[in-house]
Amino acid sequence: MTTYNIAIDGPAGAGKSTIARKAAAELGFIYVDTGAMYRAMALYFIRKGIGRDDEKAIEEACGDMDISLRHQDGVQQVLLNGEDVSGLIRTEEVSRMTSAVSVYGPVRAKLLELQRELAGRENVIMDGRDIGTCVLPRAQTKIYLTASTRVRALRRFRELEEKGQMCNLEEIEHDITERDYRDMHRDIAPLKQADDAVLIDSSDMTIDQVVGAIVDAAMARGLSDGR
Ligand code: DC
Repeated sequence: MTTYNIAIDGPAGAGKSTIARKAAAELGFIYVDTGAMYRAMALYFIRKGIGRDDEKAIEEACGDMDISLRHQDGVQQVLLNGEDVSGLIRTEEVSRMTSAVSVYGPVRAKLLELQRELAGRENVIMDGRDIGTCVLPRAQTKIYLTASTRVRALRRFRELEEKGQMCNLEEIEHDITERDYRDMHRDIAPLKQADDAVLIDSSDMTIDQVVGAIVDAAMARGLSDGR
């Protein structure tokens, strides 16, 4: 059986995970959040006290760790050496560390096969930075989802505010700009729009409008109802 794969790439805070999760539920696909896998690796380095610039220690630590995914009722859990760390990887500290360590080849190589294997086994919507360009170059539908930096910072600000966390909009915007720059300018698998990706700017769109646009794009590219 050939699986149907939808790749969604884009910068931090573009709404990829919210939208991919909803679209996956609508289509009956598995949602794979690759950022969570990189985040779990970063958490491991933080726990080990490894600095973001210590390439040698990072490479060595890659060999000690096991990352896997589990799906329960459509919700992805990421396991680090068997421990569900899904709730621990959403801090700003982990975000910064993740962007910094995901430039290293051994970190990326560790996750590439796992991601490809999942997409070969299941119909997936996979989101990240290099899915359409590198992980799944033959994905039937590719989306590049973006929004203005200000809108992305504001969304993040509101999310943190709702959780009752103290935050500063300027700082969030600065962090996002820094992460975007690093993700787009690294040597290995940088974030960029694949030539055959559909560009969606969600700055002035609702979540449902974006989900609809993605489902329509997949239908236009060979996905049929009831697949
Ligand atoms: O999507 P996210 O914000 O959870 O991703 C966190 C970091 O992980 C992001 O700044 C870069 C890295 N990442 C990556 O390099 N490649 C991916 N496919 C997904 C995430």
